[in-house]
Parts: sequence; structure tokens; C-alpha cells
Amino acid sequence: MTSPNPAWWTSAVVYQVYPRSFADSDGDGIGDLPGVRSKLDHLADLGVDVLWLSPVYRSPQDDNGYDISDYRDIDPAFGTLADFDGLLADAHARGIKIVMDLVVNHTSDEHPWFVESRSSTVSPKRDWYWWRDTREGPAGPEPTDWESYFSGPTWEHDPTTDQWYLHLFSRKQPDLNWENPEVRAAVHEMMGWWLDRGVDGFRMDVINMISKDVGPDDALRDGTDGFLFGPRLHEFLAEMHREVFAGRDADLITVGEMPGVTVEQARLVTDPARAELDMVFQFEHVGLDHDGDKWHARPLRLTDLKASFGRWQAGLADVGWNSLYWDNHDQPRAVSRFGDDSPAHRRDAATCLATLLHGHRGTPYVYQGEELGMANSTWGSIRDFRDIETLNHFAEATAAGADPDDVLATLRPASRDNARTPVQWDDTEHAGFTTGTPWIAVNPDHVEWNAAAQRDDPHSVLAHHRSLIALRHASRTVQLGDFEMLLPDHEDVYAYTRSLDGETLLVVCNVSGTPYALAELLPEAVGAELVLGNREHLPDHDDAVLGPWDARVLRLT
Ligand code: GLC
Repeated sequence: MTSPNPAWWTSAVVYQVYPRSFADSDGDGIGDLPGVRSKLDHLADLGVDVLWLSPVYRSPQDDNGYDISDYRDIDPAFGTLADFDGLLADAHARGIKIVMDLVVNHTSDEHPWFVESRSSTVSPKRDWYWWRDTREGPAGPEPTDWESYFSGPTWEHDPTTDQWYLHLFSRKQPDLNWENPEVRAAVHEMMGWWLDRGVDGFRMDVINMISKDVGPDDALRDGTDGFLFGPRLHEFLAEMHREVFAGRDADLITVGEMPGVTVEQARLVTDPARAELDMVFQFEHVGLDHDGDKWHARPLRLTDLKASFGRWQAGLADVGWNSLYWDNHDQPRAVSRFGDDSPAHRRDAATCLATLLHGHRGTPYVYQGEELGMANSTWGSIRDFRDIETLNHFAEATAAGADPDDVLATLRPASRDNARTPVQWDDTEHAGFTTGTPWIAVNPDHVEWNAAAQRDDPHSVLAHHRSLIALRHASRTVQLGDFEMLLPDHEDVYAYTRSLDGETLLVVCNVSGTPYALAELLPEAVGAELVLGNREHLPDHDDAVLGPWDARVLRLT
């Protein structure tokens, strides 16, 4: 069912900036807000509607800004509040909205709230975080057996008061206790402060972890039962909506990052009638190539991807809304991971994956550099990595006896640092990212793969993204059409239709290097009008053959 007045973000495309790696204006090797501001024309030229800014708040940078010590200031590495206001004004002048990253499952341990909380058991802020006594018995002193996302236990002992505090991520990211109404009120007030400043919404970091059942219960093992979708999550989200968003007439957008979310949960959270969030980031498709955990990969089976995306499309067809992404600052680069980044196929694989994704129903997210076909980098030794998750995992695995070279081999394709190498603006020494020494090495392939080389090339990955975004803006069928998956059992070809008001578009993508005769797969595609393709300009192109990494949007009716 298509509502006559769909929300504005049903036709929008979001672009994520990870400021540390985007553009450095002052030569200190770290990207910053004036750097982002200087590149707004790149975003305007691409045509995106929204810029999601990964955290720029004051932070000790233990997790690159996802550990916040002051929610109402900008970290000096990134600039000042005046720089932020300037960026916001310049973005708005180009019709681009800005969405802030909201990291309120935890703060930094250097946030004054936590400094106060840890000072004594009777501190007025003691209960703002999760404090527990040492566990008695043979199971170990940590209050529960939960494992942190960044290796080791989720509990840190604090000698001042001889109690333990909870941290689902690093020990410098203590979890806020959302059971305490003062915590919730403080968060709501801070969100209002940013909205009053003019921001257009929030991407909410691990927001499905804010309600927890922190029992002294060993049976919970890894703990996810206790902190993913805890008992009061819907209540907290609805309260946030009431307290922060209700009554504001601006066109805002909220997207919740939700590891482990199911279709059913997402439908509840994004049902407009329930007034919680506009959309969520789910993780099913980026787990399909995990063999046990993220450090061990197996090849993606396209049939698994179809089953998963198909279920999400169907599950949120009548109520709720999908977000669509391959890449973000936590994921290796999709062209290397799900595509083929060899010289022969990289352009076509990048444009094919983009077409596959952008044709779905939902709001597409483009991560910086994805529009250029940026790929995973080359990593020599452990000293090349910067990411806390990667470094902690290496330390833990080698301490447990694993061969360092074997561990390194697992880090190279999987590390989050693959997403965090600087954006490749041109072919100069540091890719035009900085005049200084970059905080993390630039991918050596920037001499060939960069924005300057692609800007005026009508067949570049960049140009293809421009066309996909323009198509979404122009086509109500792409925005709102019904989705139907075709060829669910085909191992290489991903195909589906989108239909609305008598128009049917067919999206067909060859996710492989093997050519296929179109007539045998989808006879209706032969001779259909080409709306958008990625290979029709190539000399070997044949309408009747779906070439390697060939992707087409065709109009059937
Ligand atoms: C989210 C962020 C990730 C961060 C973690 C802790 O998953 O995307 O980058 O490390 O939360 O804040």
C-alpha cells in the first residue's frame, strides 16, 4: 500500500562522512569540519539529500569519536562549533540536510557524568551507569560472563569503590543506565539542543542496546539476550520520540543502528503509527559471509542474499521502511568483499553492486569513497592498523597462542580500517586528503582510483552513482513501487521487479564474471527499454547477453 503523502526520506539518498578520513584542512593528518565544508560541492554534484556525519563531538578518540566526553562541543581535532555552524549553513544552502551521529548507549569514561559516577558509591550520578559487585564463586570475579564487542569481558574493575562497571565496547566506553529517568532526560535535552541548532536528525549508534537486563546470570553467556532489544527498548524509543521530536515541524530523519534486529522487530520500530524511528540499519546481509565470526569469512552465496533482502523487502512492504547499505565505517569495502576489485572487473563490479542495492525499496546510504569504487587497502604488519577492535582482537588472539601471521591474514580483509583509509580525491602523494602525514595510510591504488579522474568521465563509478541517485529522485516506481524477487535460486544473477501505477521496472544484475544469455533467464528483458545500465557503452556489449558484472534497469511496461 502506498500512502498518498509518503515521507520526504522515501525519495532521499544519504551520504555518510567519516570526518577523520574525509578531508583535512589544516595539515595535521586528521580530517576535519572545514575539510568537509570544502568538499560539499562533491556531494551536491552527486545529488545526495542528506549528509550523515560520524561523531565530531569532543572525545578522547579511543574509538575515533564513538566515545564522547562532551556532547555539546566539537573535538579540537575536527574544529569548533563555529566550524560546525558554517558547515550546516553551507550544506543547507545546497539543499543538503545534516544528520548527527547520536552515541548514547555509552559515553567516554572521561565524560564528567562518568567521572562523577565513579567517584563514590553515593555519588548522585552513581546510578547513571551500571555498577555491580564482584561475583562470588568459581565463575570469575566479573559480575556476568558477557563478552565485549572489542574483546575481553564487558566489565572493568574500578579500584576507587571496588565495584565493576559495564562497557559493551571498550573499557573507555562505559554504558549509560537508561533505567534512570535522569539519564533519559539529559539525553533528550541534548538532542533538542542540536535540533535547535538546526540539525536535521540523528543516526543512533547501537540504539537497540539501551535497554538491558543486567542480571547476575551466568546462563546468559555472551550476553546478547540481556542487552539486544531489552525489555524497555520500545518504551524508551517512544518516549524519546515524544520528548524530542513530537511537535517539531522540520523535516527530520531518524535511523537506528540495530545489530541483530529481526524483520519483525524492525517493523515495530519503524511503524509510523507507533512513533519510534523512521528506519533502522539491520545487519543480516553483512553477516552472510561470516563463518562463525567476522574474522572468518566464507564467500557470499547470492541465494542467501536474495533470501535475506527478499524477506526484508516483503516484511516492511506495508508498514515500516528499509535502509539500504553495503558500506559504512565498520564494514570492509563492498567491491572487494562482495564484488571483484581486480583491474578487469572493478568498475563494473562496483557499479553492479550499487545498481543492485539502489533499485530496492528503502533509503540508500552511500559511504564516502563508495561512489568512487574505493576498495580494501593493503596491510603489511599490525603496525599499519589503527582500529581498536582490530588491535584488541590481534592482542587477544596472539596472547591465546595464535600465530600472529595467521591472525594478520584474517584482519586484512575484515578490519574496519579498510573503510577508514582517506578518501581518494586525486593522484597526488596523500590522495589530496592532507598536506601532512595522514593518521592512517592512503590506499596506494589512489593513483588510479580517485575523484579527479572520475569527475568528468561519463562511465565512471562516480557518474553511475550520480545516475542512480537521479533515477531515485525522478522515479516514483523506484521510490515506492512494489518489490518482487525473481530467479531466487540462481547462483549468479540477482533480478527483481518494482511496480507502481502500471509501470514495471526490471533490475537485473550479473553478480559474477560469467556471461549469461538473457533470453534464457528473463525472456521479457530482451528488447526492453534500457533506463540505466553500466556496460552498454562497452564494445563487447550485447543486448542479449548479460556480461560480467552487467547491471541493467529496464522498463517492461
Ligand atoms: C557502532 C559504531 C561503531 C562503534 C560502536 C561503539 O557500531 O558504528 O563504529 O565502534 O558502535 O560506539
